[in-house]
Amino acid sequence: MILVTGGEGLVGSNISGDDLIVTDIVNGCKEHLDVTDAVATEAVIAKYNPDAVVHCAAWIEPDQCERDPINCYRTNVMGTINVARACRAVGAKLVYVSTQLIFDGKKRTPYVEDDPAEPLQQYGLSHFCAEQYVKALDNHIILRTSLCHGQCSNGRRYGFVYWVLDSLEAGKEIQVVDTLWTTPTDIKDFGRCIRTLIDRDATGTYHHAGDRYLSRYAYAVLAAEHAGLDASLIKKTNLSVLMKKWVATRPLYAGLNCDKITMDHGIQASDALAWLNGSLRQSGRAPRSMLRRTRASRK
Ligand SMILES: NC(=O)c1ccc[n+]([C@@H]2O[C@H](COP(=O)([O-])OP(=O)(O)OC[C@H]3O[C@@H](n4cnc5c(N)ncnc54)[C@H](OP(=O)(O)O)[C@@H]3O)[C@@H](O)[C@H]2O)c1
Repeated sequence: MILVTGGEGLVGSNISGDDLIVTDIVNGCKEHLDVTDAVATEAVIAKYNPDAVVHCAAWIEPDQCERDPINCYRTNVMGTINVARACRAVGAKLVYVSTQLIFDGKKRTPYVEDDPAEPLQQYGLSHFCAEQYVKALDNHIILRTSLCHGQCSNGRRYGFVYWVLDSLEAGKEIQVVDTLWTTPTDIKDFGRCIRTLIDRDATGTYHHAGDRYLSRYAYAVLAAEHAGLDASLIKKTNLSVLMKKWVATRPLYAGLNCDKITMDHGIQASDALAWLNGSLRQSGRAPRSMLRRTRASRK
């Protein structure tokens, strides 16, 4: 049995299996669990006595974390300590979902697991601190990912690329920065990756993210062209415009290298174009490659 914290969120709701206990702080969740409550965390985990706990409960908004670091640490660090202690008490494996934002973005190529962490903001620092407590457990996995896209169980869509496609479809011009590089990830692939690592009884630190290392601008253009939308509506903008709106600093280059997880467990990086195909179909749009095929088959 696998227990998930923050299980109604994007990552938690994309882990599959009929042996899942989904817990969350949100209203209406089947098993309510606030991970900042040490007693409740220990009680809920002891009640189900799971083989593994996938810990997704967190504050995930960098600007919110920067504005309120105390409560960010309460959830992201103290919450993780509570979950780790409860896992130790029942002998469960702890799978901790972490982020590319533990890196400073000065390395131009995607980061590998052993690259030194140098977080630029409270969000990344809180994840880096939490990782240290997770490492104190023998049976743990730290799994870092970057810029996930997809849908939650409540149907809510998460991801920058949805904003791009919706705007272009409405004929709206958009401004996108050409400087923030990352490896966008299909949340379904990431959910499958978590499941595979648990099923294989893996341990240690891994990266799992997308197979394309792109700037936001390049990703927006790729998505537009793939969807047959007008990419000329995407205008390059200067990072300084965005920086005025942000409270937390973001790394310029923050992709993740997935070679280790492929080598150790045969798990491939997430396929960015396959994700676009799937999401376009889901939203009723036909990917351009499909349109071409459809037109050709009519001839
Ligand atoms: N999504 C990404 O692109 C991405 C990339 C890299 C790493 N990650 C990491 O992956 C993990 C999961 O992220 P996600 O994208 O699934 O985020 P999410 O959709 O916001 O899910 C997190 C869930 O945890 C809940 N939560 C917040 N505080 C809690 C508490 N004290 N106790 C229990 N649950 C609590 C949230 O409830 P509320 O919504 O009510 O706050 C939400 O339902 C996080 O650690 C995140 O930093 C995500």
